[in-house]
Amino acid sequence: MPENQTKEQKKIILSGIQPTGVFTLGNYIGALKNWVAMQDDYNCAYMIADMHSLTVRQEPAKLRQQILSAFAVLLACGIDPKKSLLFFQSQVHQHAELAWVLSCNTQFGELSRMTQFKDKSAKHADNINAGLFTYPSLMAADILLYQADLVPVGEDQKQHLELTRDIANRFNNLYGNTFTVPEAYIPKVGARIMSLADPTKKMSKSDENQNAFVTILDQPEVIIRKFKRAVTDSDMVIRYQEGKDGINNLMSIYSAVTGLSYDQIERDFEGKGYGDLKLAVGEAVVEHLRPVRESYEKLMKDKAYLESCYREGAEKAASIAERTMRKVYKKVGFVGR
Ligand code: TRP
Repeated sequence: MPENQTKEQKKIILSGIQPTGVFTLGNYIGALKNWVAMQDDYNCAYMIADMHSLTVRQEPAKLRQQILSAFAVLLACGIDPKKSLLFFQSQVHQHAELAWVLSCNTQFGELSRMTQFKDKSAKHADNINAGLFTYPSLMAADILLYQADLVPVGEDQKQHLELTRDIANRFNNLYGNTFTVPEAYIPKVGARIMSLADPTKKMSKSDENQNAFVTILDQPEVIIRKFKRAVTDSDMVIRYQEGKDGINNLMSIYSAVTGLSYDQIERDFEGKGYGDLKLAVGEAVVEHLRPVRESYEKLMKDKAYLESCYREGAEKAASIAERTMRKVYKKVGFVGR
């Protein structure tokens, strides 16, 4: 990107993360680290998708704590509120407003085909609420309000992004050009981090086995212990190759946190054992996450600072969102506010 390019000419990126549950090393390496890296080359908007979290039953006090904690985690990871928009979805009322208009332009059949809806309604059979069903229209609103060009999403959200594109195109055709049609953003680097207990499965915070994942806020000794127990293979060589899922996973984590290439790692560990590698990866992850955890702990003690950040974020987000909302209300035939 040329240096003289102004803020206005940069492409717009929007992404969101639900505040429920812990953030794993997989979230960090696969998503958050990229969010931080993209801040210089794009106009980024990052949102805590708290409204999406209501689609499954939550405990109010715990939810509030998780929302604040998620915000502090993003700041601690390096999201800079001076460079990027960082806000709570629920504090920008335009999200709910646009979601309604878009849900009137989304078909029942389309929503019924969403695999996440099918999975979640099987998992929460006692609470298949309308919000769970129209979740993708709200997600489309999140993206289209900011006229995002690019949306970094994981595999599990691709179908929702496709639907967002369909909704945007449909609306543009019906009412005239209103929305930028967003594209999926596939980061240049973005290793898929696997479970430490079963390296053929993705690392997931909902794994019953606590040893399967490391969280961003785990204490050093916990991280080391989990890496020491990481499942590998019965072979003895440290080499990145097909079939060696456990070693491949350890190497890709090591590479992500140290910047070393696989070749270099193989050379460094020539003649050494799996125990050496596990310890080295554990220590490298500890050192990499240490400043994040320390910064998080400081931020959580400074509620006034957090509040000033999210207030300002919501204000800035709302002024952008309102521009889109005015257009939309006018196009659909409402009397302007
Ligand atoms: N649905 C996303 C998830 O659960 C979170 C999300 C909400 C999101 N709105 C978004 C992601 C807009 C990208 C863009 O992971």
